Amino acid sequence: MANKVTEAQVLAALRTVQDPDLHRDLVSLKMIKDLKIEGENISFTIQLTTPSCPLKDQLKSNAQAAVAAVPGVKKVTVELDASVRADRKIQEKITAPIKNIIAVASGKGGVGKTTLAVNLALSLAMDGAKVGLMDADIYGPNVPMMMGVQHPPRVQNSKLIPIKAYGISLMSIGFLVPSDQALVWRGPMLHNAVEQFFRDVLWEPLDYLVVDLPPGTGDVPLTLAQLVPVSGGVVITTPQDVALADARRGLAAFVTLDVPVLGIIENMSGDIFGTGGGERSAKKLQVPFLGRIPLDRRIREGGDSGQPIVVTEPESDLALSIRALSRTIAASISIMRAEEEENTAA
Ligand SMILES: Nc1ncnc2c1ncn2[C@@H]1O[C@H](COP(=O)(O)OP(=O)(O)O)[C@@H](O)[C@H]1O
Ligand SMILES: [Mg+2]
Repeated sequence: MANKVTEAQVLAALRTVQDPDLHRDLVSLKMIKDLKIEGENISFTIQLTTPSCPLKDQLKSNAQAAVAAVPGVKKVTVELDASVRADRKIQEKITAPIKNIIAVASGKGGVGKTTLAVNLALSLAMDGAKVGLMDADIYGPNVPMMMGVQHPPRVQNSKLIPIKAYGISLMSIGFLVPSDQALVWRGPMLHNAVEQFFRDVLWEPLDYLVVDLPPGTGDVPLTLAQLVPVSGGVVITTPQDVALADARRGLAAFVTLDVPVLGIIENMSGDIFGTGGGERSAKKLQVPFLGRIPLDRRIREGGDSGQPIVVTEPESDLALSIRALSRTIAASISIMRAEEEENTAA
């Protein structure tokens, strides 16, 4: 008769399994929860640092196999859940219950910044994260249009209630200030608007808040990036020859303010504009290249009709590539949080 399986044996097996992004083992990352040993039957939950973990199925099967190899084990049941870690820099600056802020920027308008901010935010939510979307582009606050939202937010006890659409919470600077005033915005007005975004909006607890920043390098994008405690920045560019200059402009605010750059996405990749400009720019600017999204009529139609492609055609190649990008971004954020934890512990 086989010896009884012990907790120490199971944990030793799980110490041989690494999180593929965080490059540490599941036990020292404290990801193993609810470990139960009932004779030959072992069950536990792996608590991921994001529901958008790109390699979660692989991680699950590796853990399963490792424990199944312990002598005396017959059956292994593995559950997955997730608990997103919070960026402490945000909590030092604002009281809203927001764990991470991802800003989307570009060197110029018309490159698909809003389109991708919307679809990336929705992708994170489709994986199970709690997601907010903040439209801070005072020059073209069209997030509500792309999300199919036509009415302003409700006010309750002098707080604005974010609008719910497709499972995410949305707030737009266009709701706070009449559009004809946008171009004359000055520092103090921006301060007020951004303060309002955080102080006067009743955000529910969010794992990720995606922010659509205004394009370019003017005072306004810079001020905004300074006022919003950004955890990581994503730059959208196109494949054309001018991509490098544009990407550099898009990066400028993040670089100036020491915001970690998560990487560059090339949008509208394909026949007309060619391909590769985003990747070359990323290499030259020494930031990660996150991937490319093709130029495709369905993306524009989805935006125009307020029915984003990741929602209407979630299994299409297009949606799947946007969803893959969102997982890369979520994993980068998780890596940053884990590194911070390690540094604090050391
Ligand atoms: N990959 C794409 N394929 C086709 N059309 C796109 C794509 N990305 C964006 N668009 C369209 O291009 C226009 C500009 O996109 P938008 O997101 O508003 O850009 P920005 O926010 O950078 O100004 C919109 O009509 C949008 O639907
Ligand atoms: Mg836009």
